[in-house]
Amino acid sequence: MAGKSYRIGVIGGDGTGPEVIREGQKVLGAATKKFGFGIEWVDYDLGGERYKRTGEILPDSVIAELRKLDAIYLGAIGHPDVKPGILEKGILLRLRFELEQYINLRPVKLYRAVDCPLKDKGPEHIDFVVVRENNEGIYTGSGGFVFKGTPHEVAIQESVNTRRGVDRCLRYAFELTKIRRNGKPWKGLKPEDIKARKTAQLTLCGKTNVLTFAFDLWERAFHQLGAKYPSVKRDYAHVDATCMWFVKNPEWFDVIVTDNMFGDIITDLAAMIQGGLGVAAGGNINPEGTSMFEPMGGSAPKYTGKNVINPIAAINAAGMMLDFLGEAKAGAAVEDAVVKIINAKIKSLAAGKMGHGTREVGDLIAAAV
Ligand code: IPM
Ligand code: MN
Repeated sequence: MAGKSYRIGVIGGDGTGPEVIREGQKVLGAATKKFGFGIEWVDYDLGGERYKRTGEILPDSVIAELRKLDAIYLGAIGHPDVKPGILEKGILLRLRFELEQYINLRPVKLYRAVDCPLKDKGPEHIDFVVVRENNEGIYTGSGGFVFKGTPHEVAIQESVNTRRGVDRCLRYAFELTKIRRNGKPWKGLKPEDIKARKTAQLTLCGKTNVLTFAFDLWERAFHQLGAKYPSVKRDYAHVDATCMWFVKNPEWFDVIVTDNMFGDIITDLAAMIQGGLGVAAGGNINPEGTSMFEPMGGSAPKYTGKNVINPIAAINAAGMMLDFLGEAKAGAAVEDAVVKIINAKIKSLAAGKMGHGTREVGDLIAAAV
């Protein structure tokens, strides 16, 4: 059986990025054999080391090449010798913007109760998805200084919310909510919701009580579009309350949609309740273009090169990538293998405490696919 073959750009990047990406590639290697498709990896040398060596951050020619690939697999961006912001803006955010990856998708799923820092919460309580807008908000870089360096200096950083940008993000979130559990009702629904034929819930996370321009637009767009999705229950939570409920009642969430900055913040908290950055993965999605998948952990300089970092987040990101490429069965097999190995072999999800090295965890999961 000659399956399809995909061309995937690999940006190992900084710190532990290349180490965890290697394990993800190992696991996908096992998946390609089992499910009969191919992957051609195309390596890109980007990140702090290249910047220090050559002064180059992200050449335009590289963006043009990446655009033509089926997906991008990214390790981590951020180098201790480079001022914060240069590489993050110059590589990660630039790719998100130029490739119009307007969704940042972050599944939050607890695999094993012991990995959760919350009292009395287990896998049955933590299983939701955050849909973060990924091209607008405070992240556009709009703003500036006036009288910089003087006692009366002014710094302005503006939040950009376009109707088109908000609508396309909401549409993605509603579509995902509708199909996420294959139409099977989400168990957090109340009897009156079921009576009203709801099968799933989408929570808009905002700050309508203070951001009375930005979230006024979000809220109006949410309800206008939501009217076209009768099976989706519409819910709203302020961002501060969302943080509180992640800790107190994470079972209240099915799918959450939010702006770029709030999404950035709440997904770090969400990562902690699912067992930490060792397992948390994300996708920067352009449904019509080239998407980019990454572990959430960052470059973790202090663990670099020690074979101690947890590669599971990168492996989960690789699983998401397969799913987006249309290899849903292979994507599910990767996730199943992760769950199996976590339960059978991994002591703790924290770096250096897994009971195995980075490479060994990759071997175990690859063998379980
Ligand atoms: C993330 C990261 C990035 C962000 C940084 C590295 C720019 O924190 O992907 O969540 O803020 O989006
Ligand atoms: Mn973040």
